[in-house]
Amino acid sequence: MPKSKSTKSAALKLPLILAFANQKGGSGKSTGAVHAADWFIHQGRSTILVDADGQQSSSSWAKDLGFVHKVISDPEVLFDELPLLTASYDVVVVDGPGNASEMTKAILIRSHLVLIPCRDSMIDLASTGKIVQFVRQAQEIRGGSPIAAIYLNAVKDNTVLLREATEVLQNGIIPLLNTTLPERQCIKDAPGQGSTVFRMKGDAPKAAASAYTKILTEACSLFQSKSS
Ligand SMILES: Nc1ncnc2c1ncn2[C@@H]1O[C@H](COP(=O)(O)OP(=O)(O)OP(=O)(O)O)[C@@H](O)[C@H]1O
Ligand SMILES: [Mg+2]
Repeated sequence: MPKSKSTKSAALKLPLILAFANQKGGSGKSTGAVHAADWFIHQGRSTILVDADGQQSSSSWAKDLGFVHKVISDPEVLFDELPLLTASYDVVVVDGPGNASEMTKAILIRSHLVLIPCRDSMIDLASTGKIVQFVRQAQEIRGGSPIAAIYLNAVKDNTVLLREATEVLQNGIIPLLNTTLPERQCIKDAPGQGSTVFRMKGDAPKAAASAYTKILTEACSLFQSKSS
């Protein structure tokens, strides 16, 4: 394994292992993980994307982007390998599977920060109970880790739904990020173009890239405040 850790001094304390988890399919884990990896790479951080989902959608996207990436489909291997990868990279971004599996549990046991994308539909909101339970159990075992946060993904321009979803999630035990990620065609188009909104040209990708930057900055600040 090449030693590729950057020599940057860390102004902001970064989560070494950042995972995107939610057993609900289609919530935005792979999209979030690939964009997070690209965000860290654009900041000069050596980053590896670990695709822990059997569907391997993020690894084929990562290949198109030229990312360092690795598919790990066995929870035992993931458990052993994640800490080893932190010796070689500044950030290890993990894309979790869309099911409540041993893999999701292994991710929660090894991650430092877990981001849970959730769509603002009542079906998606109702299903957060399972991942919240998993996170709570991991935090109990690990004495508070992983630090976790939910964010609303693919938010439509519907303030009533957004308000309702925010109210439901704000009463939970996992903090809800203030920043929401809008539903945007350019985000949907990114994997087909082998790109991310950070690399695509035009006003819409630029606005979506700002939203990702805002959400990841908020998440890293939360991590810094809770882990210090
Ligand atoms: N903010 C967004 N705006 C528009 N489309 C989005 C957004 N986030 C995700 N999508 C689209 O929603 C679909 C599901 O997203 P994604 O594959 O990231 O979810 P997932 O949680 O990884 O799903 P799975 O559980 O199946 O792995 C994809 O087609 C993706 O392009
Ligand atoms: Mg996925």
